[in-house]
Order: sequence, then C-alpha cells, then structure tokens
Amino acid sequence: MSFEKFHKQNQVQLTKAVDEICQEFVVDEAKLEELTSYFIESMEKGLGQKEENAEYKGLPMIPTFVTGKPNGTEKGVLLAADLGGTNFRVCSVTLSGDHRFSLQQLKSKIPEELLEDEAVTSDELFGYLARRTMVFMKKFHPEYLQNGEKLKLGFTFSYPVNQTSLSSGTLIRWTKGFKIKDTIGKDVVDLYQSQLESQGMPMVRVVALANDTVGTFLSHCYCSLNNGSMTSGEISEPVIGCIFGTGTNGCYMEKIENIKKLSDEQREQLISEGKTEMCINTEWGSFDNDLKHLPTTKYDVDIDQKFSSNPGFHLFEKRVSGMFLGELLRNVLVDLHSRRLIFHQYPDTESLPHRLRTPFDLSSEVLSHIEIDDSSELRETELSLLQSLRLPTTYEERVEIQKLVRAISRRSAYLAAVPISAILIKTGALNKRYHGEVEIGCDGSVVEYYPGFRSMMRHALALSPIGPDGERKVHLCIAKDGSGVGAALCALVA
Ligand code: GLC
Repeated sequence: MSFEKFHKQNQVQLTKAVDEICQEFVVDEAKLEELTSYFIESMEKGLGQKEENAEYKGLPMIPTFVTGKPNGTEKGVLLAADLGGTNFRVCSVTLSGDHRFSLQQLKSKIPEELLEDEAVTSDELFGYLARRTMVFMKKFHPEYLQNGEKLKLGFTFSYPVNQTSLSSGTLIRWTKGFKIKDTIGKDVVDLYQSQLESQGMPMVRVVALANDTVGTFLSHCYCSLNNGSMTSGEISEPVIGCIFGTGTNGCYMEKIENIKKLSDEQREQLISEGKTEMCINTEWGSFDNDLKHLPTTKYDVDIDQKFSSNPGFHLFEKRVSGMFLGELLRNVLVDLHSRRLIFHQYPDTESLPHRLRTPFDLSSEVLSHIEIDDSSELRETELSLLQSLRLPTTYEERVEIQKLVRAISRRSAYLAAVPISAILIKTGALNKRYHGEVEIGCDGSVVEYYPGFRSMMRHALALSPIGPDGERKVHLCIAKDGSGVGAALCALVA
C-alpha cells in the first residue's frame, strides 16, 4: 500500500474512533431531564439523611448554620483564611456597609509534600497554615500582635465537613488531592485554632467555618446591588452560590422545616430565634456516586479508579471540574495511541512524552486554548501541546484533538446546568414574584475563564426542565473574592 493510502486510511480510522468517543460525551435534552429529576430526589434524600459518615454515598446536603443573607449594609474589619485547591490565602477584609469592601491578602502555594505525602500529619498542615497567618499578621496587622485585641476570623475550608455549628465541623473526607489520613473525623476549627495559639496568636479567634460556595453566596449577596446585575425595575434575587474551578459545588437557602436531618432541638431553637431558612452546602460534587444516571465512559471509570485520591466519590465533580478536564483528554489520547490510531512516531506507551503519561499533568488551561483555536492549521494548539506536554502533532491529529476538547468541555458545562436547574425547581425560585429574576453567584477558574463555558451552561439550562423561559430569568454572575469576603461575613454574624 502506498504511504498516502496508508496515511489516509489511518486518518479515517482516527476520525471514526474520535467521533464515537465524542458521541459518548453527548448529554441531550432527555438526559438533562433525567438528571435534573434525580438531583431533586437526591436533595430530598440528603436533607433527611441523619448521620454523615465516610461511607455514605448520597448527596451530603450539609446544614451550614448560616441562617440569613447579607444585604450589603454589614460593616467591620475581619480576617479570613481560605484553604482551597492549591493555595492558602489569609486576608483582612474591611466591609464598608455599602456593598463595597477592601481587602489585603497574602497568598501561598501549598507545598507539594503537604498535598502528596500520606505520612504528613494534621498538625503539620495546620501548623503551616498558622505560620502563614503569622506572616500575614506581622505584615498587615502587627498592632493586634502587640495589644492582643481580639480579631475574628472566618475560615473557608473547601472540603466536605460535617458541620455541627457555625464554628465547628469535622472533615468527612478530603477531595481535590489532599491525602492526610489523620484529619478525617477531626474538627478543623480546633486544629487551626490550637496551632494559632501555640504559635503566639491567641488574639485571632476562628469564629466561623464556611465552605467556599457559602462564602461565594454570601459575598454575592453583599455585593449584589452594586454589581450591575440588576436591571432597572426588575427584582433579582441571589439564590445559589456555586464554584466551577478545581472542584465543583453549590449552596442555596432551604426552609428549615425541610431540613429533616436537624435534630428536633436544633429546629425548635432556630424557629424560636425567628429563623426560617438555612444555607445548605449540597456538596454536589458527590451527586450520583452510585452512577445510576450520570453519563459514564471508560475514561471516567479509569480516572476514578486508577488515578483519583477518592475512588467511588465525587463522581459528578470528576466529570465537570477543572481538575479533571485535562485528565479526561489525557486518558483519551493515551487510549487512542494504545489502539495505534494517533502519534505514530511513538512505538509504545512507554515512549510517549513523559507528561502525557503522567496523571493530571495536562491542565484544563491547555484545553481552554485548544477550545477556541481558529488559527490556520491549528497552530495555537500545536504550540500549546508542544509547550505543555512536549508533544508534536500533525494537523490532522489536532483537528481530532480539538473535537475531543469540545466534547469534554460541553459535557462538563451541560452537566453543570443540572444542579442549577434542579435547585431552581425545588425552591420554586423562578416563580416567587411576577417577572422575578434570579442571580447565581459563581466563582472558579472554569466558569470564569473557560471560553464559552457560561454560554454552554445557558444553552443547557434552556434545554433543561426550566426551559427557555426559565433560562432567561437566570443571571450567572461572577462573584469575586467569595472565599475572603464571604468568610468575613460569616465571622461577622458569629
Ligand atoms: C470540592 C469540595 C467542596 C468544594 C468544592 C469547590 O467539591 O468537596 O467542599 O466546595 O470542591 O471548591
């Protein structure tokens, strides 16, 4: 067979294989409907499920003990600390009571060994957090270190926690890479507070524990009237706070009477204080861990079982969040190569560029470049793959890679619309007022920077059971600095 003919035949086979894979990533209208109604069912179940334990696989639906929404008039100087995906941030937030705030911060990249090493202890991790807090205090608030005046701190801790009050909660399990075993089951506020004290900062009081989604929601509520999302004459209400970044999650206000997992005592106490609603941290990353309805390819199974730190959990997150988009593409490419359909210059898996063989080395940022590459011969894609993976590609290969990228990101954005649609339906938020509109405060690199992500989400919302009429009432707003300002707001009411 001539070289051209061989080449052509190969190309046809690659295209066929890629089209088949892309097809497996499609989420259509019927699937959106099925997933939305299962999400509502899972929320109801989760609200009634009493004990949180590491084995429970359903939607966690964690009560946060945040019982009101800020209205923008809150005032004060507060500290906030934020342990999220890859960074630790300490900030002091000044709320000026007019929907505005100012913020000073110190951001540190969490040292690799704290993330990677299973032998690391909680004290080492929280000791590190306390040391960074000290660096911040010395730089920005030395006066408190001298005069000992108390300073309230809100702690944003973006992992599933069984919250027992506004200021206490025990870690259910790590997500997003951490592996430290001895933190599971411990109160993370106690761990942080005791390290702050042993390092000479008893004046810093950790008074509130907030998930990052809750922070995002509160900060969006605080800023809302100021952020231009209100069109004159219309009433627009913040309903959901959500994150689409390294991980994904969301929270919303639920009627206290519906939160069956609260003890009778807790419920009566709250009602006697005049509270009617509480913010629920859904931990939607764990939606459908039983895989009854989520679309599942063999790549999803491999990533979960072979490469993730929490197999069997957070299976929705593993299809949606930024941490997994690149890993999905990497798995598909390695598979296509093992089927001898792509990268023919490498005879076997071992000879592939190291980074293509290394789990999680392909970042979602690379996908974001490929997604919108319209350069001739897809040169941007070529450069991006060369720089990030040291992987040379042919034009034909790049065309197929771009198709895969778009299939992976579209599935992510379509799935992202499911919890939004479900919460809007469950809370009746779209029908509360005549022409009432709703605001969704969003944060995270994917929703903020991934090209077209929000418009794909909107498209899916219109296809979902809320339909185009519902979709038109939804404002997807970027909530800036949720974890800082939101935690400060939590600390203020504590
Ligand atoms: C993971 C965490 C969750 C967090 C989300 C976004 O899903 O379990 O608590 O809110 O990531 O950071």
